[in-house]
Amino acid sequence: MEMIGLYPTWFEAGVGSGWIVGLIATAHVLFSHTSVGAAIFFAWLANYAYRHDRPKLLEFIRRYGLFLLVFSYVLGSITGPGIWYSTTVASPRGISALIHSFVWMWATEWVFFVIEVVGVYMLVYLVGRIDVKTHTRVALIFGLASYTTMLIIVGILSFMMWPGKPEWNEAGGVLNAFYGPNTFAQLGMRTAFMFSIAAVVGGIVAARFEDAELKKSIARKLAVLGIVATLSGAGMLQWYLATLPPTADVMLQNRLPAYFPTALMAVVAGTLAYFVLTFVQPRALVSAVAGVMTVVILVFGLWPEEVARESIRKPWVAGQYVYSNQVVGADVPGMGVKSEIPKIEAHGFLQTHVFVPQGQRVVTDDNRLEVGRTLALATCSNCHSLSATGMRPLRNYFAGSHTESEIAEYLQAALAGGNTLYMPQIPLKDDEARALAAYILSTTPQAGVNTAQASVAAPAKE
Ligand code: HEC
Repeated sequence: MEMIGLYPTWFEAGVGSGWIVGLIATAHVLFSHTSVGAAIFFAWLANYAYRHDRPKLLEFIRRYGLFLLVFSYVLGSITGPGIWYSTTVASPRGISALIHSFVWMWATEWVFFVIEVVGVYMLVYLVGRIDVKTHTRVALIFGLASYTTMLIIVGILSFMMWPGKPEWNEAGGVLNAFYGPNTFAQLGMRTAFMFSIAAVVGGIVAARFEDAELKKSIARKLAVLGIVATLSGAGMLQWYLATLPPTADVMLQNRLPAYFPTALMAVVAGTLAYFVLTFVQPRALVSAVAGVMTVVILVFGLWPEEVARESIRKPWVAGQYVYSNQVVGADVPGMGVKSEIPKIEAHGFLQTHVFVPQGQRVVTDDNRLEVGRTLALATCSNCHSLSATGMRPLRNYFAGSHTESEIAEYLQAALAGGNTLYMPQIPLKDDEARALAAYILSTTPQAGVNTAQASVAAPAKE
């Protein structure tokens, strides 16, 4: 029998591979958004300095540019490939799906990225060495190249949420995949917030100017930029939410940690207050405070935002045809892709997954726990941690008094028919379901020990 081309599972005990990808990606968002926001601001500021004959302002571009060389172009260039490495092992078929649709988009993005990197060096090291007009042009090219890299990545990220146009399903085509309502809304939202971030991080640099007049002038420009950007970002967020697939609403409304919306709102309000303060009282701009604000945005703004975006995409990882657990779950005639679900339904996971260990293809009394663990690793661990910590620990749902056959029944009812909106369809043969149930039960805290968790997450919600 022909098997399904699944890869081995990358498993990080205690955390889950998803969170590792998330941590790297969140850091990368901070570094990259700062640089794109700053790049456009530089283009504007260089032009402003030229027109108003205030060459001193270029000193800010030079110092902030130098800061970005490390902050964005060293740290960003470590975390960027970090996303590639981690997602390739966490989600090989998700990445494969993206490459099959977007290989030339990525090639294009790298061309612009090279321009961007050369641009930032020119911008920093040529201040005062070339005439101001040429320098302004360099700033403009740098800004446009940076923004283009973002445009391309955002189109690809939106495809991960859902394909740009429904026609893509039948006709394929890179533009159908790339451009959709979600692409523009997400681009708008990221554009706004990248300016907020660039204005906050810019404060770290601006605060160190000794020339009080210059510091005030820059602090106020950053504050105005920050206020306008943060307000429009909050508006764009509403637009973005309106362009999400229907499954995303279920996750948004019921399944995100309760503190997420509060955290996001608090960060937006706090950021606004901070900008108003530094506008009214530029002397209040201190590097340490700007640094703390940056960390606050990272932890309470970007992390919830990235985790939410990942969560509401469930059960899919890309294009609404590759499930997060790597199984192809839908036909895409336009790409010649066929769902693998019928094959799994017919033969079971153990018979169709290439990397099932020797001796585990058939469930026996001796190997049930081992087989159950293999199934949990291959089909659940991408979204559920198998230990007590990390992302949505599987054991928490079944703490308490459930028996093996109750769990097995639940698994088949909730997963086999694809009845749970945010989870993949996972057809399990009877013996597979029982093996998985036995394994889950073996990891579950005993009844009574953990009743608190049991009562918050009883599994009968669907
Ligand atoms: C695509 C990601 C994904 C995969 C794969 C996945 N789940 Fe889930 N699962 C979720 C999400 C999202 C929730 C929502 C609950 C939450 O966030 O706590 C959930 C909830 C659950 C619940 C709680 C009941 C409910 O309906 O909310 C159980 C039980 C569960 N999963 C079991 C499993 C098992 C067993 C597997 C593997 C056979 C599995 N899941 C695979 C994403 C997934």
